[in-house]
This record gives sequence, C-alpha cells and structure tokens, in this order.
Amino acid sequence: MVSSFNRIASGQFSRRSLSFRKPRVFITMPCKCWFSLSVNGFIAFCSLVSFSSIIICVCLIFFPNPGHQNGVLELMDSTSECDFFNGSWVLDETYPLYNSSECPFAERGFNCLVNGRRDRDYQKWRWKPRHCDLAQFDVHSILGMLRGKRVVFVGDSMSRTQWESMICLLMTGVEDKKTVYEVNRNKITKQIRFLGVRFSSFNFTIEFFRSVFLVRPGKPPRHTPKRVQSAVKLDVMDDFNKRWIDSDVLIFNSGQWWTPGKLFKAGYYFQVNGTLKLGMPIDIAFRTAMSTWASWVKTSINTNRTHVFFRTFEPSHWSSSDRKFCKVTRYPMTKTSVKGYSVFSDIVSEVAADVKVPVTVLRVTYMSALRSDAHVGKWSDTPSVLDCSHWCLPGVPDAWNELLFSYISAKFA
Ligand SMILES: *[C@@H]1O[C@H](CO)[C@@H](O)[C@H](O)[C@H]1NC(C)=O
Ligand SMILES: *[C@@H]1O[C@H](CO)[C@@H](O)[C@H](O)[C@H]1NC(C)=O
Ligand SMILES: *[C@@H]1O[C@H](CO)[C@@H](O)[C@H](O)[C@H]1NC(C)=O
Ligand SMILES: *[C@@H]1O[C@H](CO)[C@@H](O)[C@H](O)[C@H]1NC(C)=O
Ligand SMILES: *[C@@H]1O[C@H](CO)[C@@H](O)[C@H](O)[C@H]1NC(C)=O
Repeated sequence: MVSSFNRIASGQFSRRSLSFRKPRVFITMPCKCWFSLSVNGFIAFCSLVSFSSIIICVCLIFFPNPGHQNGVLELMDSTSECDFFNGSWVLDETYPLYNSSECPFAERGFNCLVNGRRDRDYQKWRWKPRHCDLAQFDVHSILGMLRGKRVVFVGDSMSRTQWESMICLLMTGVEDKKTVYEVNRNKITKQIRFLGVRFSSFNFTIEFFRSVFLVRPGKPPRHTPKRVQSAVKLDVMDDFNKRWIDSDVLIFNSGQWWTPGKLFKAGYYFQVNGTLKLGMPIDIAFRTAMSTWASWVKTSINTNRTHVFFRTFEPSHWSSSDRKFCKVTRYPMTKTSVKGYSVFSDIVSEVAADVKVPVTVLRVTYMSALRSDAHVGKWSDTPSVLDCSHWCLPGVPDAWNELLFSYISAKFA
C-alpha cells in the first residue's frame, strides 16, 4: 500500500517538478557578486515555497482517499486529474513510430501494408488521455532505462503482437540492427512457446511465453466422458511459471481463448482440485484462474524488483457471432457507438484490487474498442480468412506499449 502510494507520488512529482530545474541550476552556479547571489537566493526561496506547496497539493490529492490505495497501482483514480485510459484518438502526422517492413520481428501476418492494405490513416492515430498527455516516445531514454533488465510477456497471440510491437519500437533506436537477435535463432510462429529477443548492446532481453490460459492445461483425470480431451487446471499455474519470476517487467494478458469455441468445442474442460467441473461457466472459471494468478504473484514475485502488469482484454470487431464476417473501417469509431468493457477486464480489475500486491492493470479495453479501423482484416498472410481480432502493426499495440513505458519510466527513472 505504502509502496504503491510512493510510486504514484513520485510519478506525479517528477513530471511536475520539471519546471523547477532552472532555478536549481542557478543556485549551484558560482556567483561573483553579492547582488546576483541575493537575487538568486530570492528565486531559490520562491522555488522552494512553490515546490513545497506542490508537495502539499499532491498529498492533499491522495491522502483524503485511502479507499483507493488498495495495492493496485492506478495513476488515474477518480480524484487525480489524469486517467490514462479515458481519452480519444487524435491524428498525429509523426505516427507511425516505425516501419514494420524494416523490423525483422514484426511478423508478416500483421504487416497490413505489405499484405495489400491501401489506406494508411489507421497508422496515424495517437492515444490522448482526456486531461493529460502521455510522454512522447523517446526511444533512447527507454533503451537506457532497460539496460541490464529482463522484460517478459506472457499470454496469447495478442501478447505476442505487443511483444513484436515493443521490439520494433525499440529497434528504431538501435543503429546496428544485427545486435538484436532471437536467442535461439527461432522464427516467430503461432505455436512457439518461447521467444526471446536480446538487445545485446543494451544488455537486455524482451521475451514472450505463450500461455493462453496462464493456468495449466493437461491430461484430464481417468474415467471422464469422451468429449473431454484436456483439462484446464484452474488452480495450478502454467508449468513455465518459474521462468517468469526472475524478471524486471512482467506483462500478462488472457481472454481470447476463454470462449466455448476454443474450450468446449475443442475438448477443453475445467478442473479444480483434481476434479472436473463440466458445467462450470466460463466467467467463473476465468475468475478462479485469475485468483490463482494473483496468489502466485503474491507468493512468487518480489514486487520490489518486478513491475507486474496485466493488460486487459482486447476487443474484436466481428459483425457476426460465428466470427466469419467483419468490416475493417477506415476511421476509428465514435465513442457513442462503443461498448468499452468486457467481463474479462472487469474480473481482472476486481481480482487485482483484492490481492493487495502492487500490480498495474493496463485497462486498454475501451481505447482499443474504438479502433474498428485497426484490425488485420483481409490483409494477413492468409487473405482468405478474415481477422477482426488481431491488429495491424504498426498500430494499436504500439499505444499499449506507450502506456506501459509511461509506467516503467516512473519506476526506473
Ligand atoms: C471517461 O470520463 C467520463 C467523465 O468522467 C465518464 O463519463 C466516462 O464514462 C469515462 N469513460 C471511460 C471509458 O472511463
Ligand atoms: C517501409 O520500408 C520499406 C522497406 O525499406 C519501404 O519500401 C517502404 O516504402 C516503407 N514504408 C513506409 C510507409 O515508409
Ligand atoms: C548485464 O545485465 C546483467 C543483469 O542485470 C548484469 O548482471 C551484467 O553485469 C550486465 N552485463 C554488462 C556487461 O553490463
Ligand atoms: C480444494 O480442496 C481443499 C482440500 O480438500 C479445500 O480446502 C479447497 O476449498 C478446495 N478448493 C476448491 C476451489 O474447491
Ligand atoms: C521490499 O521493500 C520493502 C520496503 O523497502 C522491504 O520492507 C521488503 O523487505 C522488501 N521485500 C523484499 C522481498 O525484498
């Protein structure tokens, strides 16, 4: 609780104190005459006074509301002026931030331009929170900040997209692209369970572990109905979990695989405590899995070192429930036509608020829901199959990473 408050305060603080840098430089400058010294002294005094009042203000903003300090690092509770996740997309000609064709880690399937998309507006939107601006993406400062660190993404293909996006964003600041490589020289494929990209001149890696449920799928108990091919053990973490512990930034997602089509129709059923739960509804199962995840964070992760994120559900824009039809629009949707929530995102936020460990929920559901223009559509590597779930790169996942960078800048600065 205390540490999460400190992080909020220092995040706010460093941004606001920027304007006081000048006077402080003044004071430390050697001064030859008494007059200028006293003028400088006066300026310093004034700075000190305004500086203290800002500290007091920040305290007043946060202390009267202890109910919000529930261990979830949220820079945007109702009392603060800025909610990172409530805002709009604004056109910005400086976007996109990279070219996928020049990034060896952007998979072909997400490179919509190369796959025939003609309109380019979808690449030019910047996420703008309502009452503040995100820090402009500064690749050199982020590269410096990540030196010696380990960044780990865990989740489904949406996590892989974000992993690719982060690598491509950061590679724009690397002169010799050959110094960035996959540690096992693997190619990116959909089924691969581990990918690790090393930025050797900066001594850090950005890794991806495929774990679509986060909890462990496995063999069902004996004597089960034939339709049960696999059991998702909701009370046991995925067997890769030990490799996630020793990290500095750890980003989870889950949700896309929690559907009847991907579960029951494919023979996956839930299991708790060694017992199959054939009739368990998906939302209850997801909540159970998230509780397992949360207790794992609590017992296995040293949150002093590791900044844990959960990025919430990425909405898709299908126009039929069988996921066969959809139309990628030219422009983002207007806010009135958007259902900006998902039961999966709500559950994650609730569970995270309950666990009393500092995890940051990146609530990207609403901002992404506006982006019916940003899906892969027919511009994937298999054009016969429409895709209104995955996103083009560059695109929406870059904005998720910009949000992530804002948080880790506050922590590692
Ligand atoms: C954004 O803030 C406005 C005003 O407080 C509120 O009405 C709206 O529901 C918020 N939207 C989201 C997505 O949080
Ligand atoms: C991206 O890079 C490729 C290869 O260098 C180039 O042909 C293409 O024009 C670039 N695209 C954009 C939008 O700049
Ligand atoms: C690279 O990072 C690791 C882990 O932080 C550290 O132990 C090691 O000393 C670093 N190596 C160099 C050459 O800086
Ligand atoms: C699992 O079993 C243990 C002991 O048998 C019990 O205490 C616990 O409540 C059970 N958990 C669930 C989720 O059923
Ligand atoms: C984390 O930091 C707090 C406060 O500095 C300290 O009391 C605690 O022992 C640390 N925990 C670990 C696991 O290092």
